[in-house]
Amino acid sequence: MAEQRSSQWYAGEDRNAYIHRAWMRRGLPRHAFDGRPHIAIANTASDLTPCNSHFDEVAASVKQGVFEAGGIPVNMPVVSLGETLVRPTAMLWRNMAAMATEEMLRGNPIDGVVLLGGCDKTIPALLMAAASVDLPALVIPGGPMLTGTFRGTPLGCGTDVWRLSEEMRAGTLSQEQFTRSESSMIRSRGHCNTMGTASTMGLLAEALGMVIPGLAGTPAPDSRLLEASHESGRLAVDLVRRDRRPSGLLTRASFHNAIVALSAIGGSTNAVVHLLAIAGRLGVPLSLEDIDRIGARVPLLVDLQPAGRFLMEDLHRAGGLRAVLREVRDLLDPTARTVTGALLVDDLDEAEIWDAEVIRPRSAPIREHAGIAVLTGNLAPSGAVIKPAAASPELLRHRGRAVVFDSIEDMHARIDSPDLDVDADSVLVLRGCGPRGYPGMPEVANMPLPRKLLERGVRDMVRVCDGRMSGTAYGTVVLHVAPEAAAGGPLAVVRTGDPIVLDVEARTLDVDIPQAELDRRRPSSALLGGLADPRRGWERLYVDHVMQADTGVDLDFLIGSSGDQVARESH
Ligand code: FES
Ligand code: MG
Repeated sequence: MAEQRSSQWYAGEDRNAYIHRAWMRRGLPRHAFDGRPHIAIANTASDLTPCNSHFDEVAASVKQGVFEAGGIPVNMPVVSLGETLVRPTAMLWRNMAAMATEEMLRGNPIDGVVLLGGCDKTIPALLMAAASVDLPALVIPGGPMLTGTFRGTPLGCGTDVWRLSEEMRAGTLSQEQFTRSESSMIRSRGHCNTMGTASTMGLLAEALGMVIPGLAGTPAPDSRLLEASHESGRLAVDLVRRDRRPSGLLTRASFHNAIVALSAIGGSTNAVVHLLAIAGRLGVPLSLEDIDRIGARVPLLVDLQPAGRFLMEDLHRAGGLRAVLREVRDLLDPTARTVTGALLVDDLDEAEIWDAEVIRPRSAPIREHAGIAVLTGNLAPSGAVIKPAAASPELLRHRGRAVVFDSIEDMHARIDSPDLDVDADSVLVLRGCGPRGYPGMPEVANMPLPRKLLERGVRDMVRVCDGRMSGTAYGTVVLHVAPEAAAGGPLAVVRTGDPIVLDVEARTLDVDIPQAELDRRRPSSALLGGLADPRRGWERLYVDHVMQADTGVDLDFLIGSSGDQVARESH
């Protein structure tokens, strides 16, 4: 075995090696430092990240596997991000979590790492970190929760919160019933059970090759999660011995496969920014155009909420990601490998569909062409995205008058006003919600519909925003408009009444006014006054360095890898 990286700390008989070992002994025998791999368990367990609160149990199984394979496991709590609680948006802190994890992996005597992620931003942040430090790594997706029911109906987390609250606003559900549904929403440990961002990123981590095949999507309370965690611990030791690093696994071929998977499962639009950011850490060329081009040929096979009917427990029961990948095998890049050393496409023949309602066979897809569409035009020169599968088909080609809101506060203040000059054909435009302007690019793009239109039975409208949308939401929503208003994008100068033209088939998003007129306009003072200008701390750093949605919303100085070497000793 080659000398371990951790031996730079632990080997030898000098004073420093003594210090490094002695403080770590605490029950560990001397042979723990004889050159065997030290495996960090990057653990995002936190009571404030309820979706990840079971990770200490997962970590215990990982530890057993690491020990069994002759390694030394070390628990490494890392910054954790709970999607429902963290303000102003967990996305503001994704890069911070990634940066902190990267530095702590690099700064410590670690040879390999098992990444425990679940709730939306946690897997992306961990993968970005692992990519940048490039130590042997694999992911254990914490898994979705079991399906809760309310009055006999399964509840999709997130999705049904939007649905129930709209029903209440429309007067078809009482406040009391709405409140009562609250205790049914979260049935068990685990992350949201819809095809939201957490489910999507867990599955994509596997499609990228960073998870033991077949593990992603296993429900959090399922004993097979612990079995696979034990196996992942063993494999992590093996990865170190074989020197199998993220840079060797996360190739353009594996991103290709992740995009195919994203389309076939009908995954979250948030995956677009996360995949771009992870690729950026590896120097893998990946663009919005790739995501549209590769994804557009892929059929939608998985019928999960928010766009469809079922939930993650059903997907697992029906055969999971492997069964989906088998159906689109011809679209996958066969050269991509996984952490096991095998090709992603190896043994796909063994995967079977057990419920063809949940996972459709290739011969009977839900849509022939799935994928996230990338739009450009004079309203989004650097691009914007829309998920046609979650949109209303009749709105995919639409022309309507803009109703513009300068901020989320402005929108909340006016959206339900009887005086709001809006009709069902209007296009709701919300700006100031991009990476720099909010800051952090929150999930606010699926703005609520005006109450007076809801009462008339309107259930969807075209909406345009420089922010993101929760992966659990639905609607004809154009997201991630780049450049954002705060970066001087044309979204900043659109006015109420301007005609907005959306054509998803043609991949365009335009405001139908002369370019000369657009160029002449200046952003309103109301907009400029509402944009973020933090004085200090991470927010200042973020606002000064964050890149736009079309390149993954990473910080400009975090692009690329720094490797695992540290120049200097600590004493
Ligand atoms: Fe954690 Fe939805 S809130 S995954
Ligand atoms: Mg979310």
